[in-house]
Parts: sequence; structure tokens; C-alpha cells
Amino acid sequence: MSTQTASDRRKVTVRTLQQRKEQGQPITMVTAYDYSQATVMETAGVDVILVGDSLGMVVLGYDSTLPVTMADMLHHCKAVARGAHTPLLVGDMPFMSYQADPAEALRNAARLLAEAGMDAVKLEGGATVVPTIRRLVDAGIPVMGHVGLTPQSVHALGGYLSQGRSAATARRILDDAQALEDAGCFAIVLEAIPARLAEYVSGRLTIPTIGIGAGAGCDGQVLVFHDMLGLFDRFTPKFVKQYAQLHGQMVDAIRAYVADVQARTFPGEEHTYAIKDGEWEAFMAGLSNLSNP
Ligand code: KIV
Repeated sequence: MSTQTASDRRKVTVRTLQQRKEQGQPITMVTAYDYSQATVMETAGVDVILVGDSLGMVVLGYDSTLPVTMADMLHHCKAVARGAHTPLLVGDMPFMSYQADPAEALRNAARLLAEAGMDAVKLEGGATVVPTIRRLVDAGIPVMGHVGLTPQSVHALGGYLSQGRSAATARRILDDAQALEDAGCFAIVLEAIPARLAEYVSGRLTIPTIGIGAGAGCDGQVLVFHDMLGLFDRFTPKFVKQYAQLHGQMVDAIRAYVADVQARTFPGEEHTYAIKDGEWEAFMAGLSNLSNP
């Protein structure tokens, strides 16, 4: 186990990720949405924090990522940026912050960097978003692509379904990934596609691929914080490995608190503040003076 502390580690940049790919060292990415989660990532030595628009589902309780706004993303990105300094910070561009117009996309991406402290942005889509990606990259904004299952297109895809399982759709994913690399993306998320396809795409691209539900052949892996820690109780996708079941542990802890309060066993002596006897007597004497003027 590494004994390196966060302060010993160098800031992860897009160049670090490229070197990792070239050296065959896997890249780790996890989502985070607030300050305390970011401090966990910093301490645990995660390479990349993604402030994902998955926050719409796992934090804000929506049925999809579509209602997430730029205001939501800015608020959560700022909190994450206050908690983590070593990982590369990637802010997701929410639905309709980049699809309508490359100029609007540029203004919104710039806000994630300039106002919210992100190092890079991520957006979903293949060849159709290439002009937008070029615009951002030309302005000096690092862009992470995202192909395969793209949750902002859930209605067009007919649900949260794995992608690229026919020869034709697999080919489209390969072509989209290549188009994103050519447009200047520094990395690409491959979501919910067959492991053989993800490995092949990873071998063809010179930039790193980060897989989620895409097998072990990608250059890195990403998981959603709430899924991997068992905090999101609505459903768990097939591709998630749960490293803890925190929802159950949190329910048990809150139940124990409720029971303690009801039984008056909390707060105990050790949780309370004292006042010196002399001060208390003076306080009481002051009260009797008040009642007998
Ligand atoms: O929003 C998100 O968390 C994501 C990951 C699933 C890659 O896009």
C-alpha cells in the first residue's frame, strides 16, 4: 500500500493522463458532488474527479440527468474544487448547455473553468458534437468526450441500454470515438458497450479511454460515488461493483440516534458544556434580584 500523502502528490493534468496511457498505467476516476466527497477522493489518491451530471439522479432525486442546469453544475463544481487540489477536476456540461450553439457551449464551458475551478469539461455525443469540441479546444478548454450509452439521450435511446452490440452500432461508436480524438478531446468515456469493442477502440485511439460498463480493456475506469458506496437505493447498474453498503449503515446510525434521543441517553455528560458554580450562583442571584426589584 502506498504511504504517499495528498501533499506529496503532483497535480494530475491532461498530460499526466496521456503519459499513463503511454506507460500502460490505469487511470482512476470517480464522481463527486460536494466538498466532503472531494476530500475523500483527494485522500484516497483518485486521479480524476468527475462532477457528473449524474448529480441530477443521485443527489437531486430526478429520474434522469435532463433537468440538471448550469446553475446546479456551477454550485456543485465550486464545492468540489474547494475540497480537492491534486486530482484533475472535470465538470460535466449539462443537457442543453452545449447542444444548441457552439458559441453558447463555449461561454458555458468557460464558466465551469473560470467561475467553478474545473480543469476540464466533459460532454456527450459523437460526430455531431465535433464542431463544438473544436470551438472549446481552440479556446484552450480541455474536453473529455463520452460515447456509447449517453444518458442525456435516454429518450432517443429508449432507456438506459447498453450500446454497440451490433456490427453497425459498434462501427458507429468506433467512428465517433475517432472523430472525438481528431477534434482534440484529451480522453473519452466509453459507457455500457461490449468489453471487446471498448478494448479495440482503446487500442485504436492514441488518447486515453475511461470505461464504465466497458470492461477491463480501457485505459481507466470511472464509477459513480453513490453507486460504488451503496448510497443510491433506487437501482444498481450491472456494471457497478459495490465497495461498501453505506445506505444501510447510515439508516442504522440514524435509527440508533433516534432511539438514544427518545431514551434520553443522548446527549451524555461528554457532549455538554459546563458553567462554573460561582457563575451559576451569580446568574441565579441575578434572577432573584429581577423578580424582587
Ligand atoms: O454524469 C456522470 O456521472 C457520468 C459518468 C457516468 C461517466 O457521466
